[in-house]
Amino acid sequence: MKKLIGTAILAAFFITSCTPKSTATTTAPVAATSTADQLAQGKTIFENACKRCHKLPNPDDFTSVEWVGIMNSMAPKAKLNDEQHQWVYDYIVSAKTK
Ligand code: HEC
Repeated sequence: MKKLIGTAILAAFFITSCTPKSTATTTAPVAATSTADQLAQGKTIFENACKRCHKLPNPDDFTSVEWVGIMNSMAPKAKLNDEQHQWVYDYIVSAKTK
């Protein structure tokens, strides 16, 4: 019986932990997932890693949706891990002026 309860709790955890993820993918990406600290790190990584192969791009040159695709192709080129990918993306979106 104890085991069953444990399984139920675990199942409930998985169900609830999956729910926010599925809504997150359907909503447009918005900055706000990173803390100020992470945004600052994103800025540093952006300014250092993203000018190695080309001119540093301007965040305003692309929409936040376009940046998702760009970051998907550029993060591996810049050898960013998933966290860094997220911080750089959030920094770029936060740096947009329009
Ligand atoms: C290893 C080299 C390399 C690194 C590092 C790199 N890029 Fe690029 N980037 C490229 C190349 C090559 C292209 C042009 C061809 C392409 O689109 O794949 C490009 C194109 C782009 C473009 C233009 C896309 C378009 O649709 O016009 C943007 C914006 C960009 N990179 C942003 C970034 C950002 C942001 C980073 C840092 C996370 C980064 N790049 C790091 C090689 C690199």
